[in-house]
Amino acid sequence: MTSKVIPSIVIRNKKMIMRLEIKKMSSIIDSDLLLTVRPLGTSLGAEVRGIDFSKPLTTVTLEQIQLAWTKYLVLRFRGMPTLSADDLITFSKNFGKLDARPIGSSDKNPYFDVDKPEITIISNVVVAGKPIGGLGAYEAVWHSDMTYVDLPPKASCLYAIEIPPTGGNTYFVNMYEAYDSLPTDLKNRLTSLSCVHDASRNSAGELRKGFADINDPTKTVGAVHPLVRVHPVSKKPCLFLGRRRGAFVSGLTLVESEALLNELWAHATAPRFMWSQEWEIGDLVMWDNRCAMHRREAFDPTTRRLMLRTQISGEPVLQG
Ligand code: SIN
Repeated sequence: MTSKVIPSIVIRNKKMIMRLEIKKMSSIIDSDLLLTVRPLGTSLGAEVRGIDFSKPLTTVTLEQIQLAWTKYLVLRFRGMPTLSADDLITFSKNFGKLDARPIGSSDKNPYFDVDKPEITIISNVVVAGKPIGGLGAYEAVWHSDMTYVDLPPKASCLYAIEIPPTGGNTYFVNMYEAYDSLPTDLKNRLTSLSCVHDASRNSAGELRKGFADINDPTKTVGAVHPLVRVHPVSKKPCLFLGRRRGAFVSGLTLVESEALLNELWAHATAPRFMWSQEWEIGDLVMWDNRCAMHRREAFDPTTRRLMLRTQISGEPVLQG
């Protein structure tokens, strides 16, 4: 073992050092110690290397991933072109219970043998006239996943099986930094405010089954969450915006709500808080849905993109 192969985030963690010392003393040669974490963006995103996905992940590996994830918000595991839907489920379950796929997304389909409630197919591929997955080839606008429910997932894992030659990249923003960089008077104003998160449409703008097409934000149907939430692991506050369409800040007039939300959204989606994932086949990306938002750019609908997604169940949203 050399200090070169242990990421600095691990070295700073006393509990982890103790574990590594115990392993060293008992002369266990463990591939866990080869895990490295390379930052990808200036604001968020890191690539984790050195994990053997063909074996169950050990406690030490999982703790290292958790530390890296808390620090970088979005982790990429590259170069795994042969993961199955079951492998993705097994990996995701290391971080908690999995949610069933959202309403209105793909169910059983003849093309891809995924009849598992934990898997959502994100794809523009059409077979026998039927889309096999959700979100098509459109832009999926900035959002956090499923914030229109009371307990939104804490994380999503997205795995690339087919990617288009250009486009279809996924952008992420760091909502801790977005919050930290707000002026103090605005932070103070946000402390007591909550916002409704529209359940009626997905991030590609499609109306979900069973919902009315409401265009007045004061009548939006969906969960109400604080505009600032505290992350249950890092204990740090972050902006929690969810989705712009249909959003309405409780207790304000529509004009005041629109003005405040426009200001917050323009601020939070600035390039300085952003990193973009340019997909390769076999990439597995795991993002923290509590403190990062994402957006998927559009791509040529005559090309193919096929991804599998899992979502890890969340916990109650803590008011910031
Ligand atoms: C999503 O919004 O969950 C999908 C992102 C993507 O397709 O890259």
